[in-house]
Formats: sequence, C-alpha cells, structure tokens
Amino acid sequence: MKVAFLGLGVMGFPMAGHLAAAGHEVAVFNRARAKAERWSAQHKGRVAATPADAARAAALVFACVGNDDDVHQITLGADGALAAMAQGAIFVDHTTTSARLAREIDAAARARGLGFLDAPVSGGQSGAEKGILTVMAGGEPAAFAAAEPVVACYARTFRLLGPAGAGQLTKMVNQICIAGLIEGLAEGLHFARAAGLDPQAVIDVIGKGAAQSWQLDNRHATMIAGEYRHGFAVDWVRKDLGFALDEARRNGAHLPVTALVDQLYGEVQALGGGRWDTSSLLARLERLRTT
Ligand SMILES: NC(=O)c1ccc[n+]([C@@H]2O[C@H](COP(=O)([O-])OP(=O)(O)OC[C@H]3O[C@@H](n4cnc5c(N)ncnc54)[C@H](OP(=O)(O)O)[C@@H]3O)[C@@H](O)[C@H]2O)c1
Repeated sequence: MKVAFLGLGVMGFPMAGHLAAAGHEVAVFNRARAKAERWSAQHKGRVAATPADAARAAALVFACVGNDDDVHQITLGADGALAAMAQGAIFVDHTTTSARLAREIDAAARARGLGFLDAPVSGGQSGAEKGILTVMAGGEPAAFAAAEPVVACYARTFRLLGPAGAGQLTKMVNQICIAGLIEGLAEGLHFARAAGLDPQAVIDVIGKGAAQSWQLDNRHATMIAGEYRHGFAVDWVRKDLGFALDEARRNGAHLPVTALVDQLYGEVQALGGGRWDTSSLLARLERLRTT
C-alpha cells in the first residue's frame, strides 16, 4: 500500500521503519530533513519535501510529531497534508494531543471527504522499536478497519474506543494511572535508601508481589543508578498531564494526585530535567533529603 509517515523522532523513526519492512511504499517527511535522509539511508522509502508531497498519493497518512501546534501545521498549515490527500484516504495521528484538536482535525478531514483517527500510542521507544506498541483510537469504524492491518506492523494492540477524541481521552487515562504510580515508586526507593536497606534487594522481593508494575520492572535499575538520560521526557509528560487536567476542568473529574505530580514534574524541569525520563521524580526527592 502507498503510505506516508510525518515526524521521524524517537517514536516515528522506528514506526515508519516497520511500515517499510512490511513492504509498504513509504514516503517520509520530517521538519529537520537530516532525520528523513538518515531514515531513507536505513530503510526503503522516499524523502518528501513537504507534508503535502508525502501525502498526495497515500491511502494512509500517519503522523507522530510533538504537540498540538505541530499537528496543526502538518495537517492544515502551509503545504499541509489534508489539502493534498486523495478522497477516501485516511489520516492517522499517533501524536499525543488534546481531544479538542482531534475533533477539530476530524471535522476538517470530513469536510474534505477524508477519514481521520486520533491514535496515540503507549509502550515507549522500546515498544516502537520492537513493533509492539499499544494504540488507542478514536474515529469511525470504517477508518479503523482500513488502518488496522497496516498499524499491525508496529502495534500489538490497536483498539477503537469511540468517536474522534476517544483515543486521546484514553491516553489521558493512561497518563493519569502512571503519574501517581511513578511518584510512589520513587518514594519507595527513596525511603529504602534512607532506611539503610539495599534498594535492589528490596525491589527483587517486592517486585514479585503486589507492588509489581511496568515502571518497577523497567525503571528500577536506572532509578537506583540515578540514570535518567533515556525514555519518556518530563517535558512530554507535562504536556500530557496538562491535557488531562484541562479536560478534567471541563468534565468535572477530580484529579488531586495528577495535579500534584504535574507540579512535582515542574520542579524536575526547574532542576534542568526537561529531557530526563519521567522516573526522575526520584532525583527530585534525593535533592530534598534532609539527613
Ligand atoms: N517517546 C516516548 O516514549 C513516547 C511514548 C508515547 C507517546 N509519545 C508521544 O509521541 C509523540 C512524539 O514523541 P517522540 O518521543 O517521538 O518525540 P521527538 O523525538 O521529539 O520527535 C518528534 C518528531 O516530530 C518532528 N516534528 C515536530 N514538529 C514537526 C512539524 N511541524 N513538521 C514535521 N515534523 C515535525 C520532529 O522534527 P525535528 O527533528 O525537526 O524536531 C521530530 O523528529 C509526542 O506527542 C509524545 O508525547 C512519546
């Protein structure tokens, strides 16, 4: 199938690579062209000059850029993809954005006879590289069915959760569930050290009981080592928690822990940790320790 992929960052680069490896005819576009050139040196595919150029002949156009403004630019901005796409083609946005933006792009796509899915992902850089992402989608069932076999190149789970915006709302739930959990894990490791325990030995035991989690399994070793230059950036999680807190102000949900952890991440940013992994909440605690 002719497909396009816009945004070749930590996530988009390997995702687009899986599409090429599966035999699809891929056109790629990235703001910094050097990344697209690096991608095409490693994978079979064409480097496009603009989002419109990438999207023109594609039946499916995928994107994984940074934030709402970036998605707006590549869809509706100058040389944006939507105006160039053929009738019936589908735009699948894997960026984590606000639900409001997803509904806006959906309306713009409909007006042009196009399909749209908001389809944020979970599973991180390693999930993208291994092609085992979890993808949560909002949109029409027909668009979802058309995208499903292609998204399967890089996703282990791909679910439709409702109309446009439902994918982004589900991603907000994902981030709400994780926020307090990481702070809990950071406080546990912080306390273990303060109590004179061997943190690794503690994790080896409690990680086999009810305290087990993806974060504990995948992040405890680097947290113990004080190593945060990898993974999912604090700047990105603050964007995501901001979407959840904004949405909660609209729908009346009460998110006290999420609001607190958002503030704690603000303190990590003030320490210079905007690009550190989200597990760096422990670095903040270590700096506060009084004895
Ligand atoms: N990293 C993770 O673990 C993870 C996990 C789940 C979800 N996400 C979400 O996935 C999205 C991407 O994350 P990432 O970690 O891949 O970010 P990233 O490494 O910063 O990559 C973003 C890419 O999009 C490109 N881009 C941004 N704006 C653009 C524009 N207007 N036109 C064309 N290209 C543009 C950037 O190009 P430049 O090279 O020019 O900057 C960059 O290559 C974010 O919404 C993030 O919240 C990330």
